[in-house]
Amino acid sequence: MAQSHKLVANAHTVAMYGRRCDDSQLVAQSHKLRACPLVTAVLVPRGSVLSTAMSEWTRYYDASGSDPRTTLLDALARFAEPGLAVDLGCGTGRDTVELLRRGWEVVAIDSEAEAVRRLRATIGEDDRLQTQVGRYEDVTLPPCDLVNASWSLPFCPPLQFEAVWRGLVNALRPGGRFCGHLFGDRDGWAPADDMSFHARAEAERLFHSFALERFDEVEEDSRTALGEPKHWHVFHVVARRR
Ligand SMILES: C[S@@+](CC[C@H](N)C(=O)[O-])C[C@H]1O[C@@H](n2cnc3c(N)ncnc32)[C@H](O)[C@@H]1O
Repeated sequence: MAQSHKLVANAHTVAMYGRRCDDSQLVAQSHKLRACPLVTAVLVPRGSVLSTAMSEWTRYYDASGSDPRTTLLDALARFAEPGLAVDLGCGTGRDTVELLRRGWEVVAIDSEAEAVRRLRATIGEDDRLQTQVGRYEDVTLPPCDLVNASWSLPFCPPLQFEAVWRGLVNALRPGGRFCGHLFGDRDGWAPADDMSFHARAEAERLFHSFALERFDEVEEDSRTALGEPKHWHVFHVVARRR
């Protein structure tokens, strides 16, 4: 554990999640749920050269599955018809593929060119898909019906989070939805100063202009994709913009 914390404290964070987090593996009886054991991640120590960090994302992209996230499926089930979605931090596009399959138009954004390349290789040409290599901090989201941010927003630097969140909320049309994940303040990576973590009350406050449709707090000790032990504290959210 001590070793794990030392790693976290020095983290230049590139996280890698394993396959899907299946809600059926959660005991949804209180605000603290037993988490999906398949959610996994790795850290890249601060000081790693960028190419190393990128290769760590590559390892994540190789290791992560292709099933859509349950937060996305939950959100999609609540729409009467498809619209325009932004997939923020889309990775290789497991959620984008599902959105397109269900008739949505998608703007897929990720800071890693490799992620977008892989997504394009999967989809090919499709008029309903726009891709963008860019950072949350720098992009302007189009007016949309859904912002999907699966396991991605915690990688926003804390100083920029508020502005990024404001942009996200403002992009959502009334009746539109956010779905995705935030990391809690007891997450094992919380000492890292280049990622965003939220206490439960802070996380709830972010949704003051939403109706919360799902807000599952999951806390557990498990492992990263590369087998590192990690304490996870994660909010799984689906929320409707008022
Ligand atoms: C853990 S992956 C999640 C990918 C995918 N959404 C999924 O559910 O598997 C996080 C993604 O966020 C991207 N990312 C990290 N920081 C970012 C930033 N500041 N702006 C845009 N994308 C970022 C990474 O490149 C990575 O593809």
